[in-house]
Amino acid sequence: MSATPNAGETAVYLPSDAFVKNAHISGMAAYDALCQEAATDYQGYWGRLARELITWKTPFTQVLDESNAPFFKWFADGTLNASYNCLDRNIERGLGDKTALIFEADGGEVTKISYSELLAKTCQIANGLKSIGVGKGDRVIIYISMSIDGVAAMQACARIGAIHSVVFGGFSAQSVRDRVQDTGAKAIITADQQVRGGKHLPLKAIVDEALSLGGCESVQHVLVVKRTGAELPMTAGRDLWMSDVIAHQPTVCEPEWVEAEHPLFLLYTSGSTGKPKGVQHSTGGYLLHAALTTKWTFDLKADDVFWCTADIGWVTGHSYITYGPLALGGTEIVFEGVPTFPDAGRFWKMIQDHKVSIFYTAPTAIRSLIKAAEANAAVHPKSYDLSSLRLLGSVGEPINPAAWEWYYREVGGNRCPIVDTFWQTETGGHMITPLPGVTPMVPGSCTLPFPGIQAAIVDETGKDVPNGQGGILVVKKPWPSMIRTIWGDPDRFVKSYYPADFQGKYYLAGDGAIRDEKTGYFTITGRIDDVLNVSGHRMGTMEIESALVSCTELVAEAAVVGRPDDTTGEAICAFVVLKRSRPEGDEAKAIAKQLRDHVAKEIGPIAKPKDIRFGENLPKTRSGKIMRRLLRSLAKGEAITQDTSTLENPAILTQLDQTY
Ligand code: WTA
Repeated sequence: MSATPNAGETAVYLPSDAFVKNAHISGMAAYDALCQEAATDYQGYWGRLARELITWKTPFTQVLDESNAPFFKWFADGTLNASYNCLDRNIERGLGDKTALIFEADGGEVTKISYSELLAKTCQIANGLKSIGVGKGDRVIIYISMSIDGVAAMQACARIGAIHSVVFGGFSAQSVRDRVQDTGAKAIITADQQVRGGKHLPLKAIVDEALSLGGCESVQHVLVVKRTGAELPMTAGRDLWMSDVIAHQPTVCEPEWVEAEHPLFLLYTSGSTGKPKGVQHSTGGYLLHAALTTKWTFDLKADDVFWCTADIGWVTGHSYITYGPLALGGTEIVFEGVPTFPDAGRFWKMIQDHKVSIFYTAPTAIRSLIKAAEANAAVHPKSYDLSSLRLLGSVGEPINPAAWEWYYREVGGNRCPIVDTFWQTETGGHMITPLPGVTPMVPGSCTLPFPGIQAAIVDETGKDVPNGQGGILVVKKPWPSMIRTIWGDPDRFVKSYYPADFQGKYYLAGDGAIRDEKTGYFTITGRIDDVLNVSGHRMGTMEIESALVSCTELVAEAAVVGRPDDTTGEAICAFVVLKRSRPEGDEAKAIAKQLRDHVAKEIGPIAKPKDIRFGENLPKTRSGKIMRRLLRSLAKGEAITQDTSTLENPAILTQLDQTY
């Protein structure tokens, strides 16, 4: 592979001839032909791919039904089962003994499971779920950390047509309770504890707390997987050990053949207002795009070892751990723990030990590992044999060119293309991304739309903006893996994603973007709503504000904004007015800690504000509106250039300079 920076121009990196030659999609002409196929016959294109990649029980006769837009339906009269597609059919193709998952625990212990074994385990859990009365359409909350059991639990739900909703193991009891209530879940699958960085952390105890908060009457059973063997109180009649439930269950379970539109899962994600929304995905369209993008973007082949470092609590773990790679019969790594334990060489050592060939992670992880490697040569990628790698990927937030180049050089040995994949919980799979055997790469740009995806940049009225001019990122046509609705709130779905500004015709991503004047490459410029991206995790500012003001004994008012951060991308900055006088010094520090702990309890540790600033008041206009733009400047430490003449009390600006 060669870098071909022309003097004064951005560096362009080309895939090697050998990579291009062997890639599933090889060369720009192949990419253009696919885009052309989609442009000429959109439904024909997606229909062809759906027949090629998915095994249908009943073939569909209609590709796209737009009659109730924006509630689009794809492949609606087809039936299928996602777990059949991910497990049984690989076995039917002779892959029964192939390793499906390689699990590496926090302490380094490795467990491998073949396709046949994973199917048997999935079927036992599926039968176990049936034995406690869970069936098609019932919701199951999965609150578990990275494990073979977690993946199998998701597959088991899919097998019986139950709708899973995985809750990230770092979320609080409140968050679990909110999701139980919103989904009306019948069962919860959890583990006694989770292990992160050598520490044992509670899971089942948090479920107990969540259920004790009330309003969770829908939950009939809690199934508990043993991870650490910790002593736990079990509520008789409600709590069951998973091992007991599945012990005598048969290892076969006939898949429940569901309609393509049957919800496969709900996944909660932050929006700009209110509580997190339950993004609803379908079975057929979702599975198609998860499989297709795994094949084309990651160029997955039979002998690859694929590693996506995401947690199954996020969408990346759904599409690129539980569904995409398994649908293609791949071998993948599932890792428990953190990238920095036992030391910051964990990723590189695992790549070396397991001969990982495709590696997919987040910029925030790369940035923190750069820092660690610069401080300690022993955890530098050069200290490991990473020659098995052939492709790298990035997801979750914009990757800054310096981090891109380090990743390319130090991890990929100047040989591996990097796919900077832009997508969202709502999109189900990659939307704008290089294809590794096609696209000349420019660090910091997610380059071009995936073939068939009609991404565009428009102004507030929905008019296309010329290249070189920033605007609002939209998708002009529905695509198979798109969000179907927000669970229980179809109005919010329409308002959030198909707003009247664009006559309800375009999907609004919520990000700003700009296209390069010459190449047309997309660069994402960040969220245009009140959603922050902290270490690749989406956080609504309103959610954090309401968590802060729910500390009623202390907080009168709070406003939260983001500011750039070298490691986490964005950092949370909270401006707080207390019910008592403004604290200073050690007292302010103590209260800041108390507030952080409160937010961790309400949402989870990832939502803790990095900066807390106290004022007697917040900067407001005379009509009482919080001046958020001004708060953003304060958070960044910028000189105030905004007009402050409408500010009711300019003196508070000095107070709000002090960070705790
Ligand atoms: C951001 C994660 C720039 C973006 C799959 C989006 C990115 C939000 C990229 C979705 C990327 C994701 N470049 N920004 N390659 N990938 N984003 O729902 O702001 O957790 O809207 O899905 O992350 O986050 P979500």
